[in-house]
This record gives sequence, C-alpha cells and structure tokens, in this order.
Amino acid sequence: MAFEQVDYTSLNIPAAPFSDPAIIPAFPKGKVPRHVGIIMDGNGRWAQNRAMVRTKGHQAAEPVVFDVIAGAIEAGVRYLSLYTFSTENWKRSPQEVRFLMGFSREIIHRRVAQMDEWGVRVRWAGRRPRLWKSVIDELEVAMERTKHNSTIDVVFCINYGGRAEIADACADIAREVKDGAISGERVTEKMIAEHLYNPDIPDCDLVIRTSGEQRTSNFLPWEATYAELDFAPELFPDYGRVPFWRSISHYTRQERRFGGVIK
Ligand code: IPE
Ligand code: IPE
Ligand code: MG
Repeated sequence: MAFEQVDYTSLNIPAAPFSDPAIIPAFPKGKVPRHVGIIMDGNGRWAQNRAMVRTKGHQAAEPVVFDVIAGAIEAGVRYLSLYTFSTENWKRSPQEVRFLMGFSREIIHRRVAQMDEWGVRVRWAGRRPRLWKSVIDELEVAMERTKHNSTIDVVFCINYGGRAEIADACADIAREVKDGAISGERVTEKMIAEHLYNPDIPDCDLVIRTSGEQRTSNFLPWEATYAELDFAPELFPDYGRVPFWRSISHYTRQERRFGGVIK
C-alpha cells in the first residue's frame, strides 16, 4: 500500500494504519514482544512548554495513541496495554479529571469504527467504582463491537492501579473461598493470575515509559515482573510509531533469562 502523508494533528482524519513497508524495521523473527505496555507520560509538560493549558497536551496525545496502535499492528505486537488514567490520577484538579474522563469517553466513541476496521479488539483494565459510568458504557459498547477481532488487543487501562488489581484479585479469591467455590488452603500464583482483570492476556514483555521519567507508577506490577523496560526520552505527544519501533528494536536485542542461565 502506498504511504500517505496524513495530517495527524487533525482530529477528524484517522492516522493511516499502514506505512510504506520500506520504513518498517525488519525485526528478528520470533523476537517481537507479544505484550507491550505503555505509560503514556508527558502530555502536561508538552503543553506547558508551549504555554498552553495541560489539557491541550492530552488532546495532542490522541493522534499519537492511534499512530502507535498502527505501528504495533505493523510490528506484529499482539497485546498493547495503554496506561490512560491511574487510580492515583484522581488527585489532579477537578477540571483536569473531568477533562480526562470526558475525553476518554469521546475518543472511544469516535474511534471505535476505525479500531474495528483495523482488527483491534478493545479491552479495559481498571476498577469500576469512581470511574464515570459514561466511560464504562462506551468501553462496553466498544468491547462488544470488537470482540471477534484478533489482529491486536488494545487494553485501555482506565482507573487502573496495579495494587488495586492485586487487591481486587485477592478479594475475589476470598469471596470464592467463603462461598466454597475454591479451597483457601493454598493460595497460589496461578490462582492470583487467574483473578486479574484480564486473565487471558499473557504477561507483559516490554514496558515503555515516555517523557524520560524512570518509574512504573503502579502499572502492571504483577504482569510485568520480568518485563524489559524502555524509557523513551520523548514527551508522549512527540512519540509515535517510529520511536515505538525503536523501543521494539531495543527489546529484540535483550537476552531474557527469567532467573535462569543462558548457555
Ligand atoms: C500523562 O501525561 C497522561 C496522564 C497521566 C493522563 P501527564 O498528564 O502525566 O503529563 P506530565 O507528566 O504532567 O507532563
Ligand atoms: C502515570 O503517569 C499514569 C498514566 C500515564 C496514566 P503519572 O504522570 O500519573 O505518574 P507520576 O505521578 O509521574 O508517577
Ligand atoms: Mg505525568
């Protein structure tokens, strides 16, 4: 397919899903991470650097999110978890929280047809209490509409906290033990993994954080214990599929030992 130069800054024009094959790096076979998580950080700073309000940075991030999804499809990534709103982000100003909730709802609504066309299966990881019902409603519509797609699963982590996820899994286990559905004599790692928000999704292989900050901020503590980490210097609105491929290339060069020894 010919490469079209798309105006990514326009909200009405979807990012082109496919690049000129010549620009996609040839990743070593079998080395592309199956599950990538991205901590999409730096929107506020991007806006502040331009003397704009922080919410303008969130708006600038939208086309980048879809450019990265397209790049992940092209690279052959099967699961992409996007840290969109953390359980700690409620600490922000009411105006910013309100914007982020409304904007998340709007993006899911406005982009679902495009995601469906690309073969994206929309998923959600997060806690229900406190999250706007209208956001949950849009997520449910999008999940239902795209449930048969299998090109890539895109997990929107909204009102997501890693500790909350583990605590929720433990609460579910306790409830099942109380109901007699399972025995509580031995709580195993497998049992906890089976009670996470999306137990069918494999562990995270690569966590990318943009904006140069080097921490994981409560993102996928269970799933990413053995993930490779890549800290990209770009603020998220300056990120995109090409820097994403750089992060994937970095990953393909790592030797993963999982505590063992490679001979
Ligand atoms: C990440 O960008 C987006 C969300 C957390 C919703 P920030 O809003 O954290 O931007 P910075 O880190 O303040 O620049
Ligand atoms: C992490 O970014 C959360 C998301 C990207 C949604 P934050 O900006 O909230 O993280 P801290 O506060 O810098 O650790
Ligand atoms: Mg931040």
